Amino acid sequence: MKGIILSGGHGTRLYPLTKVTSKQLLPIYDKPMIFYPLQKLLDAGIRDILIIVAPDHCGDYMKVLGSGREFGAKFTYEIQDKPEGLAQAYIVGEDFIGTDSVCMILGDNLFDADITDAVQTFKSGGRIFAKEVPDPERLGQVKFDESGKVLQIEEKAVPAISNYGIPGIYIFDNRCIQAAKEAKPSARGEYEITEIHNWYLKRGELDVKVLEGDWLDAGTFETLFKAQVWAERNTRNK
Ligand code: TTP
Repeated sequence: MKGIILSGGHGTRLYPLTKVTSKQLLPIYDKPMIFYPLQKLLDAGIRDILIIVAPDHCGDYMKVLGSGREFGAKFTYEIQDKPEGLAQAYIVGEDFIGTDSVCMILGDNLFDADITDAVQTFKSGGRIFAKEVPDPERLGQVKFDESGKVLQIEEKAVPAISNYGIPGIYIFDNRCIQAAKEAKPSARGEYEITEIHNWYLKRGELDVKVLEGDWLDAGTFETLFKAQVWAERNTRNK
């Protein structure tokens, strides 16, 4: 299993903090934000990791993260020229993924759960997560029936189809490249990750696990602040 950290984007909701740096390099307590998703991949035993960055910040990421040797891993870097959607990562990362499966984490997603088991037991198809949230309208959403079977997945539906949002951790076999190539841009002009989820769902090959513990994306001032408090508490409790 290979890993991808998707760490491009504009970070417009955090302006002016992100005017001269990348969101995922902003500090969360005692570390740059990207260290948290990176640690999740390392903890799950993933050592071959692609970091996808925006053109302006490539050098900064290399300076902060280096070759990966310091982390007992190997890092590869690719530039996403324009932030045209999460699914584009599988096209940017096509050569890196090759014939392997891949666990992608968004560079601004922080969470408690240990994903080792989900990674180590993965064989083929797709495996994503769901988390009950108070504000699913800003997220990809997944609707279950009473038996826990997945009925529907939608991107930022209003009104929401369910209270379950989809956190930014996605495990796919290498057909995600093909699925990304088949995806059409959405009304907002992005290649949505939910297109990939639905590609696997349609084939009956999507497994959705409920994510235990806290999950935060640190993309707004409010959630960035929450992430700081969460990280400080977690570090102190260790
Ligand atoms: P978002 O928070 O949706 O986008 P953003 O980071 O550009 O922020 P804003 O909406 O405030 O402008 O992205 C979620 C994560 O995915 C974040 O870590 C950035 C990353 N990302 C990419 O790397 N490439 C992309 O094309 C997109 C849309 C996001």
